[in-house]
Amino acid sequence: MHILVTGGAGFIGSHLCEVLVRNSENTVISLDNYSTGKEENHIEGVTYITGHTKDIEKHITHVPDIIYHLGEYARTSESFNEPDKAWEYNTQGTFNVLEFCRKNKVKKIVYAGSSTKLADGGDGRNQSPYAWTKATNTELVQRYGEWFGVPYAIVYFYNVFGGREMEEGPYATLIGIFKRLRRAGEPLTVVSPGTQIRSFTHVDDIVRGIILAGEKGSGDGYCLGPRESFTVNDIAKMYGGEITMLPEKPGDRKTVAIDLKKTEHDLGWKVENSVKDYIAEFLNTID
Ligand SMILES: NC(=O)c1ccc[n+]([C@@H]2O[C@H](COP(=O)([O-])OP(=O)(O)OC[C@H]3O[C@@H](n4cnc5c(N)ncnc54)[C@H](O)[C@@H]3O)[C@@H](O)[C@H]2O)c1
Repeated sequence: MHILVTGGAGFIGSHLCEVLVRNSENTVISLDNYSTGKEENHIEGVTYITGHTKDIEKHITHVPDIIYHLGEYARTSESFNEPDKAWEYNTQGTFNVLEFCRKNKVKKIVYAGSSTKLADGGDGRNQSPYAWTKATNTELVQRYGEWFGVPYAIVYFYNVFGGREMEEGPYATLIGIFKRLRRAGEPLTVVSPGTQIRSFTHVDDIVRGIILAGEKGSGDGYCLGPRESFTVNDIAKMYGGEITMLPEKPGDRKTVAIDLKKTEHDLGWKVENSVKDYIAEFLNTID
């Protein structure tokens, strides 16, 4: 298979590239604009192209069999400070990726959707520039399927954690931040009210789900997350130590929704890792 991963130098994309390139029959190319992607995430055997997805036609000269499209602006509350990036990376970029699929008859696009679309009774989709661009992109992907016959599968991720997650800076993830603070012996910063509910998914489970969706998924609705969920307070307590409350952040959804019927039926996918075990293992390494 000739495979294109957009965002291959990012957190999830690098793990996906790592698994795909293990199969010697695969050629794996990453297209990444290095807005958050890093060279230290590069995996041997993958070809890295620096570029924006809106310029995909210029950068990708050999038509791939499949595109795993992960290369988008990827943070909820930060998107209030950078709505221009959310629009340009996600809306303009993904439109051109879909045009590329249509014109070149790419056999499948797997789109990395966000579970924010399903949160808070469906209102989550409108709660931030990020969530809105991600939710509307799922609809654009569906329309390209209907209008032009572009084959697709849409997967939805739930707070992904695991190796190479960002621990510092404005794009750091909750689990990444708690790891850094706990290691440093500093109080854990919990965004108020702390009762917001999240599901957490290990990146290995996510990658397995993305690849299964690439192999046998068709259409919308592949939620990739656990049935179990926790409040942010619960997670902070699992790490232990002092807690400092921070003010509320805009766009911070309060509830989570997941429907695993289609994922289990079509892909036979189930989570194999738990955030509780991940935190317990982490605590063993520092205590
Ligand atoms: N991490 C999560 O919990 C989570 C949850 C839901 C959805 N997602 C989605 O999964 C995907 C990957 O997220 P991640 O957590 O690995 O984030 P990340 O920021 O580590 O990865 C995104 C990668 O895409 C690149 N990128 C961004 N816009 C681009 C563009 N227009 N052209 C080319 N490259 C571009 C970045 O440089 C980065 O390498 C994103 O689409 C994100 O919305 C992630």
